Amino acid sequence: MPGSALPPSSQDSPAETARPGISRRGFLKGAGITAASTALIEGVQSLRAETGTAAPPGVTELGPGPVPVHLHVNHAEHILNIEPRTTLAEALRIELGLTGSKIVCDRGVCSGCTVWLDKMPVNSCMTLAVDAVGHHVTTIEGLAPEGGVHPVQAAFVRHDAMQCGFCTPGMVMSCAALLEHNPHPTEHDVRQAVSGNLCRCGTYPKVFSATLDAAGERRA
Ligand code: FES
Ligand code: FES
Repeated sequence: MPGSALPPSSQDSPAETARPGISRRGFLKGAGITAASTALIEGVQSLRAETGTAAPPGVTELGPGPVPVHLHVNHAEHILNIEPRTTLAEALRIELGLTGSKIVCDRGVCSGCTVWLDKMPVNSCMTLAVDAVGHHVTTIEGLAPEGGVHPVQAAFVRHDAMQCGFCTPGMVMSCAALLEHNPHPTEHDVRQAVSGNLCRCGTYPKVFSATLDAAGERRA
């Protein structure tokens, strides 16, 4: 295969470099790397067996390389070729270009990355994409019917419930999820619903009033 051998060096004899693209030294180096890789993999496997972290019999391990992952996002099916360690946030933003959900802390602290999994709000930075297989994922881009605006989005605009807007997609997804499950929320319910959503600009009072307004509109 072209380029599969290491380049010849000044230590290679003419005989060693006679065949283009391969030398005895290069071959031995390559063989050494292969042997070291095999030993490393075996070492990791035996360590996992010893520590009880190996996959149980009958369970297929995925990765570490890319695997096909089927995702249902905003009423469309997608097949992504991604590593199993890919988070849902990364899959949505990098693979599908759905950048509405924000990766802010990337560790489950701020909820800026909130999306729905079967209408339940989740932190997509803490959810593996493979764990979303078989579920319906909704992002801020798919919250309202195409070309429309969700009542919570409209109420956020009316109440001016944003400043920099970085937390806003996550806030809207949390508030809209609340209304999906509770059409008669109190302010306490809204506070609970966004208790994980951090807003550094301090828009909380307007988020509460906007969500209660949206709930009233939906009931009307
Ligand atoms: S980015 Fe996911 S919780 Fe902060
Ligand atoms: S509007 Fe700026 S962080 Fe919430």
